[in-house]
Amino acid sequence: MRIDPLAFLDTELDALREQGLYRRLRILEDRQQATAHVDGRSVVNLSSNNYLGLTTHPMLIERAIQAIREHGVGSGSVRTIAGTMTLHMELEERLARFKKTDAVVVFQSGFTANAGTVSALLTKEDVIISDELNHASIIDGCRLSRAAIKVFPHKDVDAARRIAHALPAGQRKLLITDGVFSMDGDVGPLPGLCAVAEETGCIMMVDDAHASGVFGQNGRGTIDHFGVHGRVDIQVGTLSKAIGALGGYVAGSKALIDFLHHRARPFLFSTSHPPSVAATCIAALDVLEQEPQIIDRLWANTRFFKAGLQRLGFDTGMSESPITPVMAGEGSRAMKLSDRLFEEGVFAQGIAFPTVARDRARVRTIVTATHTQDELQFALDQFEKVGRELELI
Ligand SMILES: Cc1ncc(COP(=O)(O)O)c(C=O)c1O
Repeated sequence: MRIDPLAFLDTELDALREQGLYRRLRILEDRQQATAHVDGRSVVNLSSNNYLGLTTHPMLIERAIQAIREHGVGSGSVRTIAGTMTLHMELEERLARFKKTDAVVVFQSGFTANAGTVSALLTKEDVIISDELNHASIIDGCRLSRAAIKVFPHKDVDAARRIAHALPAGQRKLLITDGVFSMDGDVGPLPGLCAVAEETGCIMMVDDAHASGVFGQNGRGTIDHFGVHGRVDIQVGTLSKAIGALGGYVAGSKALIDFLHHRARPFLFSTSHPPSVAATCIAALDVLEQEPQIIDRLWANTRFFKAGLQRLGFDTGMSESPITPVMAGEGSRAMKLSDRLFEEGVFAQGIAFPTVARDRARVRTIVTATHTQDELQFALDQFEKVGRELELI
């Protein structure tokens, strides 16, 4: 009889169950919106990255349907063979103007944009200087490149400077940070890091996945927020969060984008977006240009909710953005908090190791522009009830 070579997986899964870290996928039964139906319940939804509520914006839906009618449901090929449609080109031109760069290339996701770009640009002869809390897609890109990886403590510009200065003058090196850190909601120290890159000749790269549509004029991101246009060589953004659809992109010089067309493996070896996705993203850029007040609503809701949590006495870490963690310590405690909130009608996902350090587990909340104050007050009331029950406040 054949012995199951995957039997060890049961042991691994049992260990997760024992530690209270085993997760069942929650199922969204209708639309991704402020109050949603999840696992048979109507819940106030604080778990999505749908910052501006664009997943259900009527104009975006119309444009997607129109694109399907005109161009079909799929692109049928990778970009470099037959899968580049006029809509893909139009989206890239619009994004380049939006980000104030010479050119843009769109990838299938923010993950592939980061991993594909870092692994294409750097080789085993090179060095990457990376913030310790950078996103997994950056870490995977660094590993794939086989470059030496030097990690600096979170947001520590002086530590990054010391590492960069210690390297030989001719060394090719990349300095990389998230614009907004996805689990803590704090903002990368862009002006300081740009200065380090300029002093030491580093390529400067910022992953603005959680800042695009949220920070800066019309949601242009942290580069615009800090006024460091022209000082960041590579900007990554995502189309999957505030933009409401799917995808990632790299914005930079024409030479950078041309090089990625030839060397970025997800661009070369994975089929491009369906035309409806490109059309949706173009429509989202129209919304950012024509209705910037939705970004103001996002920030008003962010201030209201964050202040409410802090008034109740929760530890909300170092957040400076609509991502507000509610710190819970041990992983099992964060999962318990999340589960009890869900029973009370609030969907806020628990985040534990390996996504965050073992003793820094949390429930991660994100408000959107489309939450009403009543929905947010309801959520705060449930946080108060469950927080007292679990002795977090
Ligand atoms: C900081 C950061 N970068 C990149 C990504 C990947 O973006 P996408 O979901 O479009 O693949 C994420 C998403 O979780 C993220 O949080």
